[in-house]
Amino acid sequence: MTSHDGFETLAIHAGQEPDALTGAVVPPIYQVSTFKQDGVGGLRGGYEYARTANPTRTALEQCLAALEAAPAALAFASGLAAEDALLRTVCAPGDHVLVPDDAYGGTYRLFARVLAGWGLSHTVVSMSDLAAVKEQLAARPVRLVWVETPTNPLLSIADIRALAAAAHQAGALLVVDNTFASPYLQQPLTLGADAVVHSTTKYLGGHSDVIGGALALADAGLAEEVDYLRNATGGVPGPFDAWLTLRGIKTLAARMDRHCRNAMRVAQMLAEHPAVAEVFYPGLPTHPGHKTAQEQMRAFGGMVSFRLLAGEEAAVRTCGRTRLFTLGESLGGVESLIEHPARMTHASVAGSQLEVPGDLVRLSVGIEDCDDLLDDLRQALEG
Ligand SMILES: Cc1ncc(COP(=O)(O)O)c(C=O)c1O
Repeated sequence: MTSHDGFETLAIHAGQEPDALTGAVVPPIYQVSTFKQDGVGGLRGGYEYARTANPTRTALEQCLAALEAAPAALAFASGLAAEDALLRTVCAPGDHVLVPDDAYGGTYRLFARVLAGWGLSHTVVSMSDLAAVKEQLAARPVRLVWVETPTNPLLSIADIRALAAAAHQAGALLVVDNTFASPYLQQPLTLGADAVVHSTTKYLGGHSDVIGGALALADAGLAEEVDYLRNATGGVPGPFDAWLTLRGIKTLAARMDRHCRNAMRVAQMLAEHPAVAEVFYPGLPTHPGHKTAQEQMRAFGGMVSFRLLAGEEAAVRTCGRTRLFTLGESLGGVESLIEHPARMTHASVAGSQLEVPGDLVRLSVGIEDCDDLLDDLRQALEG
């Protein structure tokens, strides 16, 4: 690959030269746990044991690094495994971190219920409120600032460049969970972030058939330290999962273009619908983060949330009435999904500062015929 290759070219080719032995045009699934050594310590291409490294996983990591404009990327068994490895490498017991007031429930659970017991304390702050973040950074030493943008499930937008500058001035690192945008829409490292987290389960995999996670790191030395922890604790993806994710990535750009187009039409329809109280989509000019999203994203993504005027029970009923939007957790696949965050993906944040409204419905807008999707939502809303 050359440095001027475009995103779509990198997605299809980076890390994926035809196989040297056979010419296979996609990386083979190296379904193997151990590699023959040519004499003790005589490794072929650096491979010895597949927890440490596996060629299919290497191909995925090289591709992810190219897509996030990073010197190094690491693949994990899940998004949460990636988050855990990063946090336990960068932070030590006694450290303090800033976490968003809207985020994936499992991420908050990791901070509040797992790493808190290990000695990592946190303050919850709205990452769209730069002044509030600066105030928290001035209040005590902070090791890192954790950001999602757009957030799950309320689609708020944080200004990555401004947050990176504020974090660095305070001696903290900026970590961006880029799952909702994908590297096609947004490259946080180019805006000053130090680390990018992905649940590759979502848009990168893209077909609801694999669980995975990844980190892209601006500092190759930090990547080596996280790699050490990953090898020492073992949260690696298997070769077939790495291969499925790579296969998904080849069509990421084409899928995202369609997700974004469909989601915009869905958001516009919902904004006009009499049963809907409020729509959350950064592509709408009325969204408070619209301008920042325009500056740092190529387009506005495939996720849309909305509140129902008639309240929580109406939201639950709507989730049960769709024909094409499948009721289920997760997001980012080609098929449309609908869910009730308060009782599903975000049940673990009930009672916390991250609690989500009961009348909220979240959509992962797929790449089906958009007229069919609009009809389906209208009939579900009108019952
Ligand atoms: C924004 C975000 N980050 C991280 C995760 C965790 O990823 P995984 O389920 O692959 O562990 C999720 C899962 O839904 C997510 O939505």
